[in-house]
Amino acid sequence: MSELKTIAVLGAGTMGNGIAHVCARSGFNVVLCDIKQPFLDRGLAIIENNLAREVTKGKLTQDQAAQSLARITPTLHRESLNTCDLAIEAANEQFEIKSALFKDLDRILPPEAILATNTSSISITKIAAQTNRPDQVIGMHFFNPVPVMQLVEVIRGLQTSQATFDTVQSLAQQLGKTPVEVNDAAGFVSNRVLMPLINEAIYAVMEGVATPEAVDKVFQLGMAHPMGPLTLADFIGLDVCLDIMRVLVAGLGDPKYRPCPLLIRMVDAGWLGRKSGRGFYTYT
Ligand SMILES: NC(=O)c1ccc[n+]([C@@H]2O[C@H](COP(=O)([O-])OP(=O)(O)OC[C@H]3O[C@@H](n4cnc5c(N)ncnc54)[C@H](O)[C@@H]3O)[C@@H](O)[C@H]2O)c1
Repeated sequence: MSELKTIAVLGAGTMGNGIAHVCARSGFNVVLCDIKQPFLDRGLAIIENNLAREVTKGKLTQDQAAQSLARITPTLHRESLNTCDLAIEAANEQFEIKSALFKDLDRILPPEAILATNTSSISITKIAAQTNRPDQVIGMHFFNPVPVMQLVEVIRGLQTSQATFDTVQSLAQQLGKTPVEVNDAAGFVSNRVLMPLINEAIYAVMEGVATPEAVDKVFQLGMAHPMGPLTLADFIGLDVCLDIMRVLVAGLGDPKYRPCPLLIRMVDAGWLGRKSGRGFYTYT
């Protein structure tokens, strides 16, 4: 297994900035790539804030935080990823976007580089098939907020090699995470179980069974969930939840996964949850 030094992170949004943060904090050089300067600026500002919070909590020294930030190079130019040892893609959850991106990454990164995707639900096998190195493509599914959450689902596509799996499993450990091995099926384990729960909670609100507050309270007090499903949906992003439900219904072919019409309406309205200031709750 060759040593990993520089990691490309594609997308500086909710997940991408968290992934860049943990990679840099663990000593890797990071090239953080997005498609527009404001997205990069916002991602870097969030990383700086979150590193400062870790300093306040005594988890990092001021120096370590400054060094971590200095290890991250933002870029709008994909071609500059040509010296990266591994890429972690965290762009939007749409196959067309990931397909185009993986074709490019395959062309740009060195032939031995591993291409990982943080997709929540899209087939790893199908993403891998966009490249000429399907044995070096793998799912590396982090959880939000990345600097805090322990789990990484490591997902083998049909053609993923054992060497690729071993490298990525070891990388997850170097990042201070706990990898769990999962096979390739729509939604893997986490979202196949979680998203139908969130979707059903939205049906309960749409049908007037209960308010969002009441639904959430049932899960917090009755099931000891740290946050209810609608608070969690706002946190994940309602657009992300909708994209995942669409992948589940297409991939598993069962109408029980159809997205709730209220979820679709809210996304159409631009109510995407915490990131847009409004979802099931409002945020200032
Ligand atoms: N939000 C979550 O809780 C969560 C959890 C686990 C996995 N995921 C997955 O992670 C991925 C990213 O989700 P997110 O919540 O961070 O989305 P997001 O909307 O916050 O960020 C996506 C970013 O990708 C950028 N982008 C789009 N096309 C790009 C390209 N070609 N090159 C580089 N950047 C590009 C966008 O400009 C945006 O900044 C998705 O696949 C999602 O399913 C999300």
